[in-house]
Order: sequence, then C-alpha cells, then structure tokens
Amino acid sequence: MVMFSVTRKRSAPIDGQKPGTSGLRKKVKVFMQPHYVQNFVQSTFNALTTDKVRGATLVVSGDGRYYSKDAIQIIIKMAAANGVRRIWVGQNGLLSTPAVSAVIRERVGVDGSKASGAFILTASHNPGGPHEDFGIKYNMENGGPAPEGITDKIYENTKTINVYLIAEDLPDVDIAAIGVTSFGGPEGQFDVEIFDSASDYVKLMKSIFDFESIRKLLSSPNFSFCYDALHGVGGAYAKPIFVEELGAQESSLLNCTPKEDFGGGHPDPNLTYAKELVARMGLGKSGSQGEPPEFGAAADGDADRNMVLGKRFFVTPSDSVAIIAANAVESIPYFSSGLKGVARSMPTSAALDVVAKHLKLKFFEVPTGWKFFGNLMDAGLCSICGEESFGTGSDHIREKDGIWAVLAWLSIIAYKNKENLSGGKLVTVEDIVRNHWATYGRHYYTRYDYENVDAGAAKESMAYLVKLQSSLPEVNKIVKGIHSNVSNVASADEFEYKDPVDDSISKHQGIRYLFEDGSRLVFRLSGTGSEGATIRLYIEQYEKDSSKTGRDSQEALAPLVDVALKLSKMQEFTGRSAPTVIT
Ligand code: G6P
Ligand code: ZN
Repeated sequence: MVMFSVTRKRSAPIDGQKPGTSGLRKKVKVFMQPHYVQNFVQSTFNALTTDKVRGATLVVSGDGRYYSKDAIQIIIKMAAANGVRRIWVGQNGLLSTPAVSAVIRERVGVDGSKASGAFILTASHNPGGPHEDFGIKYNMENGGPAPEGITDKIYENTKTINVYLIAEDLPDVDIAAIGVTSFGGPEGQFDVEIFDSASDYVKLMKSIFDFESIRKLLSSPNFSFCYDALHGVGGAYAKPIFVEELGAQESSLLNCTPKEDFGGGHPDPNLTYAKELVARMGLGKSGSQGEPPEFGAAADGDADRNMVLGKRFFVTPSDSVAIIAANAVESIPYFSSGLKGVARSMPTSAALDVVAKHLKLKFFEVPTGWKFFGNLMDAGLCSICGEESFGTGSDHIREKDGIWAVLAWLSIIAYKNKENLSGGKLVTVEDIVRNHWATYGRHYYTRYDYENVDAGAAKESMAYLVKLQSSLPEVNKIVKGIHSNVSNVASADEFEYKDPVDDSISKHQGIRYLFEDGSRLVFRLSGTGSEGATIRLYIEQYEKDSSKTGRDSQEALAPLVDVALKLSKMQEFTGRSAPTVIT
C-alpha cells in the first residue's frame, strides 16, 4: 500500500470566495491561482462538524468542465490529509448534479459505507473552457446544497485561513479506471473508489418510472424522440438510459459526448442556446429539414435543468411542472399513492397553483432557489416542484433533475397513448398542453431580462418599485392611464418568505403586483449574474376562457408588457430601450 504524509501548508486569505446560491463560481483563471482551490476546500472542511470529515465518505465529481480533473486530484489529496476515510469519484470525474444527490442518498459502499457530502465541480449552465467558468459547490448529507448557515461559515473561514492540510506525496489517482485504490496515512487507511457514473442514478430512475411503458412508447412507429445534452454531463446518462434501457436510436441523441468546453457552446437549455435541437424540432427560424420528432428535450452542463419541446412547440417550464403534477399519480408509479404537496418559486407562473387547488394539494410558493424546496421535502410536505428557470424535480433527490423531467414527460405521453401506440392518432405534447389549458386555464407568460445593468441603477429601480407599490390608488391611476382595459392591481408587496419548517425568514425576494384578474408582474434582481446587475421582469396573465387559451403568447401579453415597462420606468432606469433576452 502506498503511504502518504500530511503537509501543513501556509496560506493567506484570498478575496472574493463568497459562495453564491449555487457555490463558488469564477473564471477558470481565478481558480488556477495558487492556493485558490485549496483555501476554499479547507474552509469548507473547517465549516463542517468533525464527524462529517474525519472518517467520513465524500463524493467528488462534476460536469467534467475544464479544470475539473486538476481540482479532483487536489481535493483527493486534501481529503486524505484531513482524515477523510474514503472518496468516491464518478468515472472520469463525471456525475451530474442530480446524480451526486442520488449517490449521497442511495449509494452504499461494499463495506456498508454511506456518503455524508459532496464537492460538485460545476458552473451549471455557464460556458466552460480555459477562458470560461469553473465552480465548486458543497452538498450535504440529505443530498441538497449546503444551507446558508454553512456557506456563510465557509466564507468567514476563507477570510481568516492561514493553513491548509494536503497529502502532497499522494500520487494522482487514475480517475478513468473503475476500482478502489487504498493508501496508508498517519491515521490509517484512505480509499479512493472510482465507480460507474450512471449506474446508481439509472437504478433510482428505474425505481421511479415504468420503464416498460416508456420503452413501448419509444419503439412505437407513431413516436419519435430527440435529446440534446449540449455536450454537458447529461450525455453520460442519455446513452445508458434512453438507448440501452429504453431502446431509443443512437441517432436521437444530440451532443451527448461530454466535453470540457461543451463544444464551445453555452450549455443552457433554452430556445436561444439549444439551437440544434430547436432547429430539429421545427422551431428555429430556418425550420427543420424533414419532419421534426414528436418530443425533444435538452439539458444544461450539469444536467439539472431541462427544456421540453413538442413538434414545433415550446413547453414553458411553468406549464411543464403544472402538467407533470396534474398527471403524476396515474402516469408515474413513484407517485401512485398520491402527492404530498407541490411547490413553485415565486416568479414561476401560477399554473401549478390551479392544479394544486383542483387536486386539493398542499401548495407552497417559495423564493427563487432550490434549497427552499429541499426543506419542504425533508419535512414530507412536497413531492413535485419547479421553477420558471428551467428547473423541475421531485423528492426523489434534493436537486432539480433534468433527466427525471424528461422521463416524467415520456411517462405522461406513454400513459395518454396507451391505446394507440400501434397505429391510432398520437396524443402529442402539444395536445397534452392545449388540453391542460382547456381544463385549468392558461397562464400566458414571458420573462424580460436586462443583463449587465449598472448595479446602482438596478438598485434604484427596485427601490422605486418598492416605494410605488405602497400606494395602490397611485399604481392604479398609472395603470389605467397606460391601458384602460387592463384590470386593477388588487395588491402589491415585496415578497417575503417564512420557511414553514425552520421558521427562517427570507426578505426582499422580488416585488409583486397582483391584478384582480389573476395577472401578475414580478420584478427581481438576479442572484446568479457575474457582471453588473440583471433585472428580471416576469409577466403573466391568466386566461380561464378555453376559447381564448390558444393565442400567441407575446401578442396576448402585449398590453401587460406595455404596462410593466411604463409603470417601472424601465427605460429611464436602465437606459435600455429593449431587454437583452426575452424568454
Ligand atoms: C440557479 C438556481 C435556481 C434558480 C436560478 C435563479 O439556477 O439553482 O434554483 O432558479 O439560479 O437564477 P437568477 O439569476 O434568476 O437568480
Ligand atoms: Zn445546472
């Protein structure tokens, strides 16, 4: 057995190591500075209770982006030096964010060991490569991201760190080869186990969904399928699940080879960045060559986000979670005994609210960020949740889950088409969505993003909106002056959330204007931007009349958009005549 020793390396604080909502995200060259990764990793170890480090089992892996391989070797050496008992690494350092969550919760080592946490190496949907982004995020024993109490401690530690522990003489571990390598240190044995990235996750998916019925759907001459991993880690799951387990053609997988730089692309599954898929589905400007598939989906770099498309049809993330919730009990075995409750983030449309009311389900509206769902799930209050930002998931893990969302959709399509897979007319994605609108009404929805706005101006614009909402008569006078046929604002507030589980309070989570007819305008500052500030404006209008649910979304929303822009004096504050991105 190779022996190692522990070196105490002198270090000094490095500015700016404050983890954001999803860990520490910076340019690769920032992470490559001497001691940068080491300081952050040691600060994380020091923020955890001793039992979660000494003698513990930790997972280290990520979306495979540039610099991951170096970071993995550093973390292995530091874990050894800090008394960790074993490290689990997905083959080639690959594990999707949802798979990490699954591994923490489900995987049992040969000797009965269980993981107590994970370093996830990802910057999610941000581009990768030597000039792009890298990230480190720590997840806890429940499989979810570290709560603020821990990330605050990590940050405090980064401001005072003066030493870190590392096993410098521990040789690099070959992370391409499956197997266990054991080392001997001052405190005993240390193991590094490289395991198959997909098998635990595939097993979990098979325990949730009826793979046989999805297999029948995928082999039906009536159905066609397409999945785009945008060269992210989703590709490592697409082949084992969609091709090997479910019998899809290999040609239905697009960009499913994980690459360190995501092929130079922007691994964010939306209509702008998932260009190839969008074209294949007949939605791009150029249209598709040939008949588009019936179903298409894309994932982001770490495969926790998803975009679902039908033939020439876009499903909004807000509708997606509502439709999954409405159909889960009959279509997905995991939910067959009913849903514990459902939840959405505040800016996500109220489509889910209507389903919850109809099905008499517990319902929660939480601030933006997946961690709020995790608390509800740990307390057994929520089964399915989602966000407008292309995140959907359930209580099978504590992260959003892109492939789970695709399997949920395939399950629903399979269920709706039980009778007509061999020849009858297929109930399509578009049919499912339109039928949903006809039953529950439709929430027309759009999001305007003003990126990289001057931070001071963005703050002022929010302050203006907070002040304005305190006088409803004033607001309604302005609204009526802009469009007399838009309904009255019934209430407005700055969203504040009291967590029903731990009673913690989150303030300043966005400004809401709620209209009498159920329409909403929401304004908030993005919490994930890296330059300047990003203002997000979410515009939503509820239409109950089933004869009016089929309109073009931007057209239906035009009067409300006009009201939103004028009411908020958007152009005056931002100096922009148009948003950077419209979704
Ligand atoms: C991350 C989180 C999501 C959240 C999103 C919001 O992706 O994981 O839970 O919805 O950020 O981003 P924003 O830029 O709007 O703050
Ligand atoms: Zn992601």
